[in-house]
Amino acid sequence: MMSRYVAFEGVDGAGKSTIARLVTDRLMEIGHHVVHVREPGGTRTGEAVREILLGTESQPGLWAEALLFAAARSQLAAEIIGPALEADKTVVSDRCVYSSLAYQGAGRGLGIDDVRKVNEAGLLGVWPDTVVLLRVAPQRGLAREDAADRISIEGLELQESVAAAYDQLAAAEPERFVVVEADLGVDEVVRLSLKALGERW
Ligand code: TYD
Repeated sequence: MMSRYVAFEGVDGAGKSTIARLVTDRLMEIGHHVVHVREPGGTRTGEAVREILLGTESQPGLWAEALLFAAARSQLAAEIIGPALEADKTVVSDRCVYSSLAYQGAGRGLGIDDVRKVNEAGLLGVWPDTVVLLRVAPQRGLAREDAADRISIEGLELQESVAAAYDQLAAAEPERFVVVEADLGVDEVVRLSLKALGERW
């Protein structure tokens, strides 16, 4: 059975949440049964982990941070995404495992391959078939961010290595990635995202 699991990715402030929401609405209008999720979060366990990860009062070490993101994601895959795909639903996600590869693997310097391995262990094959990378200059993204969290307040240097890692990942997996320039305007970004999904599905 063909799975339909699309994730939106990009640096902080790229507009993923807005675009993921609008794409979800449009897919529902044309008859998809859509389950919309966000990472980290989406389950009770995941939302509790989100508090630890994004609240400014906790200070997890680098591997603790990576493993907490992986833990929240594993729970989301087991509880929500896996069963939704099994039931032939469409899953639209605001972020996915590629955020960890870019932020923890590259941005935090843990290594993309090692971070991929721990995530793979927890995901049991639940992996997005399409990743829409919303590209925006990190500086513009940070300026657009409204609610700063523990990771986005680290500033530009981290976002720049994250942006470079996303480009590298997209180039390495061209069959999975769709790259859309995020400053084309919301309508155009939604149109291009839906067009790419139409071509794949
Ligand atoms: P998110 O809630 O998507 O924030 P925004 O909408 O502002 O982009 O993500 C919160 C932060 O968590 C963001 O700075 C990216 C970071 N993050 C990681 O570092 N690794 C991950 O695996 C995920 C899912 C997010």
